[in-house]
Amino acid sequence: MKIAFVGKGGSGKTTLSSLFIRHLAASQVPVVAVDADINQHLGPALGLGEDEAAALPALGAHLPQIKEYLRGANPRIASAETMIKTTPPGPGSRLLRLTGDEDNPVYAACAHPVALDAGTVRLMVTGPFNESDLGVACYHSKVGAVELCLNHLVDGRDEYLVVDMTAGSDSFASGMFTRFDLTFLVAEPTRKGVAVYRQYRDYARDYGVELAVIGNKVQGADDLAFLRAEVGDDLLVTVGHSDWVRAMEKGRPPRFEQLEDVNRRALRAMHERADAAYERRDWQRYTQQMALFHRKNAESWGNSKTGADLAAQIDPGFVLDESLLGTVPTAAREESLSARPA
Ligand SMILES: Nc1ncnc2c1ncn2[C@@H]1O[C@H](COP(=O)(O)OP(=O)(O)OP(=O)(O)O)[C@@H](O)[C@H]1O
Ligand SMILES: [Mg+2]
Repeated sequence: MKIAFVGKGGSGKTTLSSLFIRHLAASQVPVVAVDADINQHLGPALGLGEDEAAALPALGAHLPQIKEYLRGANPRIASAETMIKTTPPGPGSRLLRLTGDEDNPVYAACAHPVALDAGTVRLMVTGPFNESDLGVACYHSKVGAVELCLNHLVDGRDEYLVVDMTAGSDSFASGMFTRFDLTFLVAEPTRKGVAVYRQYRDYARDYGVELAVIGNKVQGADDLAFLRAEVGDDLLVTVGHSDWVRAMEKGRPPRFEQLEDVNRRALRAMHERADAAYERRDWQRYTQQMALFHRKNAESWGNSKTGADLAAQIDPGFVLDESLLGTVPTAAREESLSARPA
């Protein structure tokens, strides 16, 4: 299943996504972690050194190969150049999975194994943004690589993709914010923190996006009462100041089982909430929203940029779901097919 962490800058998105990833790894379930935030900090939060994190292969830098791979033999997509971030899969496209697909070229190029105390997760990063990226095509294309992968991903229960995102307007311009079974909105008990929540909630409501608020840096009854009043039933759990997190920030991470009990309970509640959200997944709606955002992007810039009618890339009869896994070629299947004697 797919889970996003969003929230105001500095609210604790990276901290809480990294704790959730560690919790999932400790629960022995497969995890792919994706850093799609402007500030690329997920690697260090998972214990990588700054140099190691900076050297991670970036999705943004591999966009042409990713497009070429995912396009596969889809006759509606004439070339990788006409593939934009919202181009949906169709018959002939290659799909991604979270498990059993580790050797495909997208993961081989961009998924980096990170060993945690309790297991190994795979980390993918969009790549660092710099000043000149912001607000221009380069920035969109970096996050766009994640959107493209999400739209070609067929994931199941008990396997997790966790994305550390920004709450910025970019995720609303594209369809990114509709791509998750559950979105955790991290909010500090401040006016700015809940303002971001309200903005997100309003978009989320229009598209049936499931949202749960994690109160962070909550100290005492007054903070809790403020969040309850502002967020109501969307408030799932709160997290206080964590000495474990502070020790990690100092470069001395204790073993994960030493995380404070109250925070471990919060992580378990988040895990249960995510599993419950998965049960409500609707592939049909998921595929329709892909088409909707693709049409929007095609009309507003894609058609003129590529010189093609991008809406024609949508196969109206296609629904992304698990039943496709046997029929759409993955790298492994293709190899076994081509290895077969004629
Ligand atoms: N519960 C917590 N206990 C202790 N420190 C925390 C906690 N939550 C966040 N922090 C600290 O607050 C700072 C900001 O957190 P973090 O980097 O996770 O926020 P962010 O939302 O990802 O920020 P950005 O928008 O810059 O990506 C970090 O130094 C982090 O260690
Ligand atoms: Mg962050």
